[in-house]
Amino acid sequence: MQEFFMTAGAAQGKSFVDPVFSVLGAAREAVARYGKDQVVNASIGTIYDDEEKLAFIPAVCDLIKSLPPEKMVDYAPIRGIAGFDQAAIDFTFGASKPDSYLAAIATPGGTGAIRNVFYNNAEQGTKILLPDWLWGTYKLIAAEYGRAVDYYRLFNEEYNYNLPSIQAKVTEILKEQDHLVLVFNSPAHNPTGYSLSKQEWEETLAFLKEVAKDHSKRIVLLIDIAYMDYAGEPAPTREFFSLFSGLPENLLVTIAFSMSKSFLSYGLRCGALIGVSSSQRVIDEFLAVNAYSTRANWSNVTILPQQILVELAGNAVLTAEIEQVRAAYRQLMANRAAIFVNEAEQVGLALCPYKAGFFISIPMDNAKAVGERLQQERIFAVPLQKGLRLAVCSIPTKKMAGLATAIKNAL
Ligand SMILES: Cc1ncc(COP(=O)(O)O)c(C=O)c1O
Repeated sequence: MQEFFMTAGAAQGKSFVDPVFSVLGAAREAVARYGKDQVVNASIGTIYDDEEKLAFIPAVCDLIKSLPPEKMVDYAPIRGIAGFDQAAIDFTFGASKPDSYLAAIATPGGTGAIRNVFYNNAEQGTKILLPDWLWGTYKLIAAEYGRAVDYYRLFNEEYNYNLPSIQAKVTEILKEQDHLVLVFNSPAHNPTGYSLSKQEWEETLAFLKEVAKDHSKRIVLLIDIAYMDYAGEPAPTREFFSLFSGLPENLLVTIAFSMSKSFLSYGLRCGALIGVSSSQRVIDEFLAVNAYSTRANWSNVTILPQQILVELAGNAVLTAEIEQVRAAYRQLMANRAAIFVNEAEQVGLALCPYKAGFFISIPMDNAKAVGERLQQERIFAVPLQKGLRLAVCSIPTKKMAGLATAIKNAL
């Protein structure tokens, strides 16, 4: 046991090995040793094309090159540059804008947005409710700020959406605390590719509205839409947003919007936290506390990606061009996934219900051992607590056939 710490209190013993980057490192070593064609790198959560090159959107990169220096290097205002909030709101909701008060504030990616909701809407020491299949960083962010976590089961025994588990957990936790942040990552959930249907959203909201009848409770829904633009056609995937109208005042919907995937600009570090409420005073408070958090944590957000979003908001031609590129990558991932899903069905490999997006997950208890076994066959996937994550975003189509069989055998 370590006995001497320079760090204080809660920071003592903090350490983190990124499960994705350690598998990625092993995959890169294998590529160096055996050559690219001999390795299936299913670890990394960024889109690679079928030549295994990092995908980007040419129009976005051209826009960057065309910006004058002052639009790239200056400080941005704390809440974001003029027009950014509206551009983020318009892009996120499309034609399905809820009939509510809306506000947005720039954040460093979806991560910054999630951080702010955990910090500003969950009391220290209380529980944040997460799905059991999840992006592990939620846990790190919560722990960083002294928030505990608990889990609802996203799927029931038949691998269908499990509203009863959410109902039970929300009810249980609200017996102990008055503020609850409840996290959903939909559509195109990481790591399973699941998307809640409009009906599942309706039922979930009906339950939360019922819970909110107790005015001593404060319920904050955090919807992480990081992968939304790869979940399907833009309009239908956004339809569920129209349900967030006429909410009770003590039910706030927050949305973590990220440019990382939507604009294939992961490293530009930009997104927004969007608030949806039936109450102007809740939205005023939302903006005030999040502006404070911005100043206190990252001061302001990188100006360049904000300029891109604002420029695109006024340019229908470029927007359409970008949507075409996204649609092509959506199709590419759908094709890759279909090969895997069909083969899995043939060999009897059970999967989490995949609808769309970057990842497919295979439930299992021994994912670490299976992952190691697969590495001997030069297949590199990320072991999670509940299963193995396959990043279809980064596996070229020609390497998809045979993967389900290899995993089934490794099991
Ligand atoms: C589920 C999920 N949410 C949010 C993010 C945050 O992305 P960023 O901070 O780059 O916007 C990621 C990134 O991998 C993710 O997988």
